[in-house]
Amino acid sequence: MSTISEIIKDAHKKLQKLLENYIMSNGNVDDQQSWSNQFRQDFIRHSTAEELILFPAYEKYIKENNTELIHQSQRDHREMKKLLFILDLTTITDPKYRFIFDQLIELFHKHIQREQNQNLPKLEEVLIPDQSSSLANDFQQAKYSSNLKVYPTSSVNPPL
Ligand SMILES: [Fe+2]
Repeated sequence: MSTISEIIKDAHKKLQKLLENYIMSNGNVDDQQSWSNQFRQDFIRHSTAEELILFPAYEKYIKENNTELIHQSQRDHREMKKLLFILDLTTITDPKYRFIFDQLIELFHKHIQREQNQNLPKLEEVLIPDQSSSLANDFQQAKYSSNLKVYPTSSVNPPL
């Protein structure tokens, strides 16, 4: 059974690949649109599952200084969802689209660095292996049962 860290790192890799594909398809509007759509859908599923499973696990298991860690994670998601909302209102041929997408990529990279290098190691430190694999299982289930609203109501306010 995989740990929660392994499952999340694997999901980050897949999301990163979608971003790379978007960048590589520069010049082909249809491909760009398709990679962008796929990234946005997968990101929403991923972030919804994090909000439902991972953030509450931070709160439950990491006893010391967990408040700032959780708030920072929520801020990251909120900022990225704002950009996704703006992208939804922007056509892909608008020069602003790439500019906004670049901001999204930058935020995404910062977020996954924080998650993988700080938050997840802290969580794994206090979990026993069974708890970690059970969270991994819950995470996968939450991901596949989440709908694709851009603004899941779990921990974010509408951006505008
Ligand atoms: Fe993540």
